[in-house]
Amino acid sequence: MAFKMKYKIIVNTIKIVRKLMNENVRNGSIALDCTVGNGNDTLLLADLVGENGKVYGFDIQQIAIKNTYDLLQEHSLENRVKLINDSHEYIDNYVNEKVDFIVYNLGYLPKGNKTIKTNKKSTILSIKKSLEILNGNGLLLVTAYIGHAGGLEEKEAIENYLSYINQKEYNVLKFDFINQINSPPILYCVEKL
Ligand SMILES: C[S@@+](CC[C@H](N)C(=O)[O-])C[C@H]1O[C@@H](n2cnc3c(N)ncnc32)[C@H](O)[C@@H]1O
Repeated sequence: MAFKMKYKIIVNTIKIVRKLMNENVRNGSIALDCTVGNGNDTLLLADLVGENGKVYGFDIQQIAIKNTYDLLQEHSLENRVKLINDSHEYIDNYVNEKVDFIVYNLGYLPKGNKTIKTNKKSTILSIKKSLEILNGNGLLLVTAYIGHAGGLEEKEAIENYLSYINQKEYNVLKFDFINQINSPPILYCVEKL
């Protein structure tokens, strides 16, 4: 009898990120969402960290902070999340503890102002600071988009930076849908050893 696959395994970067979150964020984990946007990743993180964990969420746009707060409130999870209306390059002004899981979903706010977007300078500064506070066995995920102005430069700066971090301290994996048209996003996954 032929075996019929019910689920696809490699679907898109969003599904891969969510799978990695589900498998690695546990009750009591401390997580960091560096680009909360409409709050979808923050909501899943808030659920997974449980009552004993905590999520920090950054965004430069007040509308993103509000959308995320409203979504969390709908699910009664707002008390697990500290939302910060500031750039993620200033993480160290707000987070004074080690964290287990860090996620960046770069670019602009879906359905929002497309001119307000992440940029290579603050993204690299932020990733550097994030790696300093990541716990051993912790994961940092970065989804980069190359279809908008500045996106390719940002992705190249990230890839260049992550290509040279010490392999005795970090594993770095790149997920790239190399046979797709229309510039699919690229996912970088860093594990601190
Ligand atoms: C692609 S969206 C994030 C989507 C989000 N992960 C979700 O689940 O809805 C990118 C977000 O990054 C934010 N952003 C841009 N530059 C930023 C910065 N320097 N620090 C923090 N957030 C920033 C934008 O305002 C936007 O809301």
